[in-house]
Amino acid sequence: MSVARENVEAAPSATIEDYYHEGREFPPSEEVRERALIADRSLYEAADADWEGFWATQAAALDWFEPWKTVCEWELPFAKWFNGGKLNVSYNCLDRHVLAGNGGRVAYYWEGEPGDQRVITYAELLDEVQRFANALKGLGVTKGDRVAIYMPMIPEIVVAMLACARIGAPHSVVFGGFSPDALRDRINDASAKVLVTADGGWRRGAVVPLFENAAPILSDTRSIEHVVVVQRTGDGDVPLMQPGRDHFWHDLVLEADAECPPEPMDSEDLLYLLYTSGTTAKPKGIMHTTGGYLTQVAFSHRYVFDLHPDTDVYWCAADCGWVTGHSYIVYGPLANGCSSVMYEGTPDFPSKDRWWEIAERYRVTTLYTAPTAIRTFIKWGSEYPRAHDLSALRLLGSVGEPINPEAWVWYWEHIGGGRCPVVDTWWQTETGAILVAPLPGVTSLKPGSATFPLPGIGAEVVDDAGNRVERGGGYFTLTRPWPAMLRGIYGDPERYRETYWSRFPGRYFAGDGAKVDEDGYLWFVGRVDDVMNVSGHRISTTEVESALVDHPSVAEAAVVGAKDETTGQGIVAFVTLRGGMQVDASDKHGRELRDHVAQRIGPIARPKVVIFTDELPKTRSGKIMRRLLRDVAEGRDLGDTTTLADVGVVDEIRRRAEASPTED
Ligand code: PRX
Repeated sequence: MSVARENVEAAPSATIEDYYHEGREFPPSEEVRERALIADRSLYEAADADWEGFWATQAAALDWFEPWKTVCEWELPFAKWFNGGKLNVSYNCLDRHVLAGNGGRVAYYWEGEPGDQRVITYAELLDEVQRFANALKGLGVTKGDRVAIYMPMIPEIVVAMLACARIGAPHSVVFGGFSPDALRDRINDASAKVLVTADGGWRRGAVVPLFENAAPILSDTRSIEHVVVVQRTGDGDVPLMQPGRDHFWHDLVLEADAECPPEPMDSEDLLYLLYTSGTTAKPKGIMHTTGGYLTQVAFSHRYVFDLHPDTDVYWCAADCGWVTGHSYIVYGPLANGCSSVMYEGTPDFPSKDRWWEIAERYRVTTLYTAPTAIRTFIKWGSEYPRAHDLSALRLLGSVGEPINPEAWVWYWEHIGGGRCPVVDTWWQTETGAILVAPLPGVTSLKPGSATFPLPGIGAEVVDDAGNRVERGGGYFTLTRPWPAMLRGIYGDPERYRETYWSRFPGRYFAGDGAKVDEDGYLWFVGRVDDVMNVSGHRISTTEVESALVDHPSVAEAAVVGAKDETTGQGIVAFVTLRGGMQVDASDKHGRELRDHVAQRIGPIARPKVVIFTDELPKTRSGKIMRRLLRDVAEGRDLGDTTTLADVGVVDEIRRRAEASPTED
């Protein structure tokens, strides 16, 4: 189903002033400009003058085993980039740095939640990747086989991803916080042959037993032949491991050969699948390929973060289970040969200054995180960062949702000490790489605006009819292909065309509303479809609704994302129960339904509040009017109710909403 379904509403009606009441502009300082790789408009000009030539120059920064024949072949909506070229991603991320004499450079300063630490150089990482690549081969994985990865943030997750890339086996990383059910669906959709996981991961001092949780679903996954288990939280037997099928990581690598030559891959060979939520209940397997993807993640990482690989210590505080981790913890930073910090746990364990302690210890220069984290830090208070020496910081990044100007300015002042540019980066799982962001040495920043499309990116805001909006609000669209763009939805080419390319013919549209101000700056204002953004994570309303309806007591459910001060949006569920069931006032049933959703999808999808109602507001043709439910959930006056079949329903829902307990 495309985003152009019945309840796509006009872009939100707030004005730019609502967002941009901050009013200040932040041009690059002299110090920032002097240090910047780019301090003039040369990159924009080069891309405008010769778009293909520009991307070819970026691709040439990688090592290719064989040169490409064409830069971009575009048969709307299918693109091929650097077709005919051959390369290997793990070679570009590891071997070439080692061959250039940089094997001793740190790839990751890793810190576990309990405080254990590992420093891993490029040479060491290459060694581990080769061994694990051979271990995978030993389990029968060959080029083209899919490998599922369900792991905590430990170095082995990076090793597993790169080992897959080395032998040409596309990986499908499933966020460790997703439920076993979600893992099963993703394994089955991709027909993954091997699952790489761990005995457990640390979360706020407790062990999450990943393997044990996942083991029961393995009987429902016909394609899995072997499971590899990293020993992270224990040192003995792991319950439910089956001899022959399941193996310890350390046993496999001990026996594995130390050398594994990189598989020469076609530029358009599949590098990975990553599942993301859309407007339907079924997550989409987003396909990313090799040459274009690596070109653009390396390019954007270098220029948006103004990277100086020999001196920077870069920290992207995301999880490898999301696209941010793929592109900006693993592939971009390693392709650029930079040193990264990687952290396993939460920011408040054992205390609320954990991040700042880490930033101080490793002299972090560049921090990339999400507005939801920044808002949480604001809530905790500035004394936590103030207690640490953050003077090494010189650049801050934001991703995942619109950053409100207050959070931007707080980040700038309290983390960046008033000297670090804050780069707000807009992109998506589907785009693979950052598409809209400032260049820190060039762009004058406005808090809350992601500013301009990067060089080489064609973007326009359009109105309902698809006409370009020069000033004002509308739908954010892309007018040209880009190297890291998704190549499709796994197993469903038609859904790809319909989801992204049908709403505005000839343009890519994936659900965001945006406004253009009088200086041409872009302001993203959130999704205009049925996708919620909770703590920077995309969650489909339909997926949560399906999980609710799947509970035996639920007859019908409608879910909306309501504004939340910390998480951006919070999930509010409106539920009608089967045949006259009554709910008691203790919210026991509400809790049961919230738990049910968390168990079906994962804790991130747990509704904040469940409102029981006898009926949902519907149009005369029977469509649920989510707009009204959003108004109720956000405590607003109701808009136009003339199309409602029964106006009394909303008053009743509002009364119930006011009485419903909210979970923090
Ligand atoms: O709505 C946009 C929002 O996050 C969505 C993409 O989510 P996902 O595929 O999970 O990837 C998140 C990390 C890249 C977008 O459609 N979004 C992402 N970055 C921003 C943003 N909204 C506003 N400003 C941003 N900087």
